[in-house]
Parts: sequence; C-alpha cells; structure tokens
Amino acid sequence: MAKKKPLFECQHCGFTTPKWMGKCTNCGGWDSFVELSEAQQEIVKLTSLAPTGSAKAQSITEITETAVERFSSNDVELDMVLGGGVVPGSLTLIGGSPGVGKSTLLLKVGANIAQSGKNVLYVTGEESEGQVKLRANRLGANTPQLYLLSEIRLEQVLLELSVRAYEFIIIDSIQTLYSESVASAPGSVTQVRQITFDLMRIAKERRIAIFIIGHITKEGSIAGPRVLEHMVDTVLYFEGDSAQELRILRGFKNRFGPTSEIGVFEMRSEGLISAKNISSRFFNRNKSQSGSALTVVMEGSRPLILEVQALVSESHAPNPKRQATGFDTNRLNMLLALLERKLEIPLNSYDVFINIAGGIKINEPSADLAILAAIISSFRNRIISKETIFIGEVSLVGDIREVVALDVRLKEAQLQHFTRALVAKKPHENTNIKCYELDEVTKLLEWF
Ligand SMILES: Nc1ncnc2c1ncn2[C@@H]1O[C@H](COP(=O)(O)OP(=O)(O)O)[C@@H](O)[C@H]1O
Ligand SMILES: [Mg+2]
Repeated sequence: MAKKKPLFECQHCGFTTPKWMGKCTNCGGWDSFVELSEAQQEIVKLTSLAPTGSAKAQSITEITETAVERFSSNDVELDMVLGGGVVPGSLTLIGGSPGVGKSTLLLKVGANIAQSGKNVLYVTGEESEGQVKLRANRLGANTPQLYLLSEIRLEQVLLELSVRAYEFIIIDSIQTLYSESVASAPGSVTQVRQITFDLMRIAKERRIAIFIIGHITKEGSIAGPRVLEHMVDTVLYFEGDSAQELRILRGFKNRFGPTSEIGVFEMRSEGLISAKNISSRFFNRNKSQSGSALTVVMEGSRPLILEVQALVSESHAPNPKRQATGFDTNRLNMLLALLERKLEIPLNSYDVFINIAGGIKINEPSADLAILAAIISSFRNRIISKETIFIGEVSLVGDIREVVALDVRLKEAQLQHFTRALVAKKPHENTNIKCYELDEVTKLLEWF
C-alpha cells in the first residue's frame, strides 16, 4: 500500500497543512505543528466531513422513527437543559471556568444515577480519590454503585470498562486524560480529538452515557480550539464564574433536544443545587439608583426578570470606552449610535459600561429598551421607578418592535408585583399591569 501523504496539525488551533511550518498561518502560533499518523489522519477526515452513513439510501417514508430514550439525572435543572434527561449512548461536553462547579455538579449527578441502580464510573485525572471522597462526604454522594478511578491514561479507563458494565461515565477532565497512542501532550488538539473519538465509539457501541468535563481557557475555548464541539452530541457551558451566587448552565448544541433552556444552580456547601424561584433571583428592588432598569427576557420556556445596569461617565480618553458584560458589545454600539442620532445625547465624550446583574447573558433583543433606559437614567442621573419594566426591541431606524411571548412576560411581571410596563404595543390579553405604548425611541425621553 502506498504510504499516505504527511499531514501536520497546529496544536493551538487545529489548522492542518501537508508541509511543516514554524509559524501557523492561521493562528500565528510558533512551533505548534506535529505530524499526524495515518490513523490520526483518518480521524481528522472522519470528523471534519459530514457522516457518510450507510451506503444504501432509503426513502424517508420507509424509515421508522426511533423515540429518544432517556433517564433522569434526578436534577431538575440539568434534566431541563438536556431536553428531558440523559440519553443512553450519548456523549456530552460540559465546559466552564475553573471553580464554577463542574466536578461538584457531576459528582452529585453521578451519585443520583448510581442510587437509581446504575453503575457509574467517575474518572478523576485532576484530583486524588481522597479529594473526591472528601467532596462526596460534603455532597452526600456516598453510594455503593458510584465507582471512582484516579487515572489519566485512556487505555486504563477503557480496560476498566471491560471489567464492569457501566451505564454512566464522568471524565474529569478531558485535558488531563491522554492516550498512549498519541505522541503529543495531554490537552493538545490531537490528544483531545483522539480521546473524544474513542469515547464516542465506546458510548455508541455500549450505549453508555458519557459526560466529559472541559476547562475553558481565558479566551473562552476548550483545549485551544473547540475541536470537541462538533464531535459530541451535546455541548453545555457554564456562564459566569465562581464569584457569582447563581451558576447558569446553557445548552449550545443538542442532537436529542432543544438548546433553548438554561439551568440555574446555586452553590451551597451541600453542592450545586437547582435554584428555586429563579424568576425573582436576578434583580433587587429594595434599592433605587440611577442607571438601573428592569426587563423580562425569555429563557426557553421561562420568563426571567433581569436588571440592566449602566454607568455613563465623562471620558478623558480620545476614544471613549464601551464595555458590556452579559450583553453584545456590537449591539450596545448600535444602541449608542441611535441615542446620539435620534435623541441627540452627546455620548461620544462619555464612557459607557453595561452590566447584566447576576452573571447571565442576554441572548435576545427584547432588552434593548431597558438598555436605553438604563443609559439615559445614568446620563441624566434620574432614578427609574422599580415598579416599571421595559420590554421592546429597538430597530436601526429607531422604532420599537413587539417581542414574542409578551403575555407570558407580563404575567411574570405581575406575579412579581410590577405595576407598569413600557412596551411597543399593548397585549391582547387583559393584565393588571398598566401598559404604555412606545413606538419610537424619542418617546422614551418623556419618561425622564
Ligand atoms: N466547603 C465548601 N462549601 C461550599 N462551597 C464550596 C466548598 N468547597 C468548595 N466549594 C465551592 O465549590 C467550587 C469548586 O467547584 P468545583 O466543582 O471543584 O469546580 P470545577 O470542577 O468547575 O473547577 C468552589 O468555587 C466553591 O465555590
Ligand atoms: Mg473540577
């Protein structure tokens, strides 16, 4: 057989090239290329192409559907993010910054599943068995069918799987595991991909649900590039960091369900537990200050009341700062341009900072109106009544647009005792909240 052409791969970004390079033309990394073996080249090919499937195509009308089987993780919020529970034979990546609670959550979930009669394997490459045991004592996770393995060699983990029939496996973490068949260092692109590929095969062949923990680096990527994302079935990321009271788990990809739901947890000494009354946890109405405005966003099926905070302060730099935490900076720039143009507010000589309280990220445009209100409130130093909520998307030309599920949002606001809402259009359903229509951003000024 003719020898395959050589292929080199950058260990920082996963860029491949037939010729070795000292500096990666894709990410600029130095001395980052390693040569891939033939087997590794096969995996690169397999994972970068769409799955080829069976050679004989069948008409879709002849195919019988298979219902997705699931079992509960006995954790309400995790089940919700997963779309109803754990799917046997699926591979899930769970990522987040160090200390956010990945090990805590999965150890407890592992214990829950073990308690329901399944064999669960917790592979720990980062902490010793003794350390994990200490945590298990604290979480109440001592269950006979939860097995611990302190191991970093993939081959040994696979060997363990042939000794006992496991139905749920936790790998903590993918960056510490390494395969002896790969020359590069643990955590490198080639290692991570090879291991994930092997785990994927095992998961599918033996119908084991496998959860892989991955640390996110400062740049927001897992193991350099996000090479794992397209290989695994489900990708979940923790938002925020260990400093926040509430930890949010968001689905980014799910082959077996929707990704619209989030999970909200709180860190307690007994573990990362599902948060109660989440709709009232992201705002505080006891204090009234300028620069704060409230809105209701939809997170999947659930409405959440969020507090938008803005700080507008005179800038002494030639380029004023625009920073947003939990909100898209590009969208903020658009809204600021609109404020300057339509409302003639001279923001070009002011720094503007936006923060969404509670460490959550806003992923929909219905908070635009609240962002504008918070900025004007800070700029003019006027307090907005904590009885009022702002719901509306703002367009480039300055119209205020209706948002989806306004009735659901207003119902939640009513439950939380709000009395006034500024909206694009009054809702069809009757509500006890007094709604004021705003069709254009210029009308917002009348409220200050
Ligand atoms: N005794 C304790 N009581 C309460 N919380 C604790 C205790 N020990 C650790 N924690 C919390 O657990 C977090 C570490 O969680 P861990 O699951 O190890 O994170 P990760 O695996 O994501 O790095 C710490 O940031 C801290 O908030
Ligand atoms: Mg950990």
